[in-house]
Amino acid sequence: MSYILPNLPYTYDEFEPYFDKKTMEIHYTKHHQTYINNINTAFKQLPEFASFNINTLVQQLHKIPADLHTFVRNNAGGHLNHNLFWKGLKKNTVLNGALKTAIEHNFSNFDTFKDLFEKAATTLFGSGWIWLVMKNVSTLSILSTKNQDNPMMGEIISGVSGYPIIGLDMWEHAYYLKYQNRRHDYIKAFWSVVNWDEAEKRFSVKKNNYFI
Ligand SMILES: [Fe+2]
Repeated sequence: MSYILPNLPYTYDEFEPYFDKKTMEIHYTKHHQTYINNINTAFKQLPEFASFNINTLVQQLHKIPADLHTFVRNNAGGHLNHNLFWKGLKKNTVLNGALKTAIEHNFSNFDTFKDLFEKAATTLFGSGWIWLVMKNVSTLSILSTKNQDNPMMGEIISGVSGYPIIGLDMWEHAYYLKYQNRRHDYIKAFWSVVNWDEAEKRFSVKKNNYFI
């Protein structure tokens, strides 16, 4: 099996003026594609892993031989993270339902959640991601990962754990063309393009699975 770019249900200019067309195009066709190319190359040396879907692969990194471990970790993480990122974008959605209730339960109110998320993003040093994750059926947490790590890799590898609900790409390639050093403007723009429908779906499906 080879991984391929997911189809985008929108055009590159869909999220103007928040995320600009050129950045979206390069981000998707160059950066994400490179992670995919690299992991597909790694599969030639790891045929026993080539049938794994990307979620399974990042949870099996401890089985990857040492000489390929970092390469697979970075590129499998890059593929998964960007899959989540593209699906997590949509215009004009509204936080609602069980996820809204859970955010208000965990962070007092939505504005406090936003402040904490923005603070985590602003203070992240270097390249990485900011996540809202489910720790368990009733606990949400905001956390960060370095480079292309994902909380699904687990604490031993990524230093954190949880099931991602939303994720913000804090690599410069995600914002520098438009925002340069104005990182906080990029972070604030994210709130205008978060796909809360997808976030609510991820939250509810995972929540229901906890009861099985
Ligand atoms: Fe990215």
